[in-house]
Amino acid sequence: MKISFNEITNGYENIEGALVVFSLKKDEGYEFRPPAVTLNDLTKGALTTAAEASNFKGKFGEIVELLAPNGIKATRVLLVGVGEMDKFTPLKAEQVGGKIIHKLMYSGDKNVTIVIGKFAAHCGLGILLRHYKFDKYYTTEKNVKKPTVEKVLISTLEAEAEKDKFEELEKIADGVIWARDLVSEPGNVIYPESYAEQIKELTNLGVEVEILNEDAMEALGMEAILGVGQGSASESLMVIMKWMGSKNKDEAPVALVGKGVTFDTGGISIKPGAGMEDMKFDMGGSASVVGAMKAIAGRKAKANVIGVVGLVENMPSGTAQRPGDVVSSMSGQTIEVINTDAEGRLVLADCLWYCQDTYRPKFMIDLATLTGAMMVALGQEYAGIFSNNDDLSNQLIAAGKEVDEPVWRMPIGEGYDELINSDIADMKNVGGKYAGSITAAQFLQRFVNDTPWVHIDIAGTAWKQKPSDVAEKGATGYGVRLLDRLIRDNYED
Ligand code: BES
Ligand code: MG
Ligand code: ZN
Repeated sequence: MKISFNEITNGYENIEGALVVFSLKKDEGYEFRPPAVTLNDLTKGALTTAAEASNFKGKFGEIVELLAPNGIKATRVLLVGVGEMDKFTPLKAEQVGGKIIHKLMYSGDKNVTIVIGKFAAHCGLGILLRHYKFDKYYTTEKNVKKPTVEKVLISTLEAEAEKDKFEELEKIADGVIWARDLVSEPGNVIYPESYAEQIKELTNLGVEVEILNEDAMEALGMEAILGVGQGSASESLMVIMKWMGSKNKDEAPVALVGKGVTFDTGGISIKPGAGMEDMKFDMGGSASVVGAMKAIAGRKAKANVIGVVGLVENMPSGTAQRPGDVVSSMSGQTIEVINTDAEGRLVLADCLWYCQDTYRPKFMIDLATLTGAMMVALGQEYAGIFSNNDDLSNQLIAAGKEVDEPVWRMPIGEGYDELINSDIADMKNVGGKYAGSITAAQFLQRFVNDTPWVHIDIAGTAWKQKPSDVAEKGATGYGVRLLDRLIRDNYED
């Protein structure tokens, strides 16, 4: 599907395919935007008749569809409500774009023309994000409807500027879509080695990619991550991505760290069978980091950014880690592994320590599908954040609002930290019955040293059971836009 932009003209008679115009909500009724007024005249009042007949009020997201209207060439007109003018934001434009493409994707029309006065680029972004579907494994038309829309033309004011803006947003969409693809791929396709191969593609964008294999990690004392992968036939890998986009190459980087458990069976503390297939998504945190690196490099962000992802498969086998095993870590701290299913924190422990020790970053943000308890606490709306730094937390909260990837700050503190003390080692990898997401965060905090740090538990937001305006159900790519926005708003030259 191709999206292009042109300047609004008033000639609507000869536009082919679907034509989309807008209406505001005004007091108790609606108010057509000028293009809708013109179209209404051309169709001798058909828009008004249709609006009245369907009790249209111009409320945000309301859509009236007119088929084969007289007086114009278009196959159909969509009259779309956008609510009140002063409440129409870039985010709303994205949602509207998503709603429009969802409505028209399978309509039979190949061409769509949208006449929109404001935030055209964001409307385009919403279209891209909602159009995505992970359908590569369907082999027959019976199983998947193929979208019919091939071209979307967005007619707007200052089309050149909107086109430039869109080109940047498109890079962000590329990152989101890659993250969704990676998360959607099953465990037999994405495992540490195949995943690392894919990440290498970032070198085409100017990202330096370095891979630590098991020997390299062993030499660094990374027993925590290695223990998780020791039951798997796949080699565990740590992948480091470097984008040095700042004018000052010596400027301390910002760092993004991701949990990349390509499949989480639970290990010897094996998970119940029902729903275990979902655990292919347990590399979601790493996918957000990889997707964000793509977005950041794609739009040539003027910032130095390091990405570190720990790629392992958590399997039960004759070589697997046992409950009760004690492992060391790169930091030198020892860990009693009470439950082999609490593996994400073991992976991140070595990633975080390595990251701060090697790069001395301004801050580290880690993302992980870390705990089921996070979904119990916040459901699928907000991701939970846990942090040792108020400023960074507030920047992240603000960025989340801008891109509709909201985060909610959770508490951490000494009382929770005590819960992971072990009788025989420096710590154990699970707390007690309560506050499971917080004790997981406390565990991670023991590996960040004094670095400003935020942990984002995306267990509830990486995968959605139902579609949204900008995403089909399934992998969301959550985190890519959040990280990109945080950097864009606060950490670029
Ligand atoms: N990957 C899971 C967390 C998870 C579970 C995310 C369900 C989404 C849905 C993680 O590795 C895990 O298994 N965590 C355990 C921790 C427990 C053993 C302390 C959990 O949440 O049950
Ligand atoms: Mg687990
Ligand atoms: Zn896991």
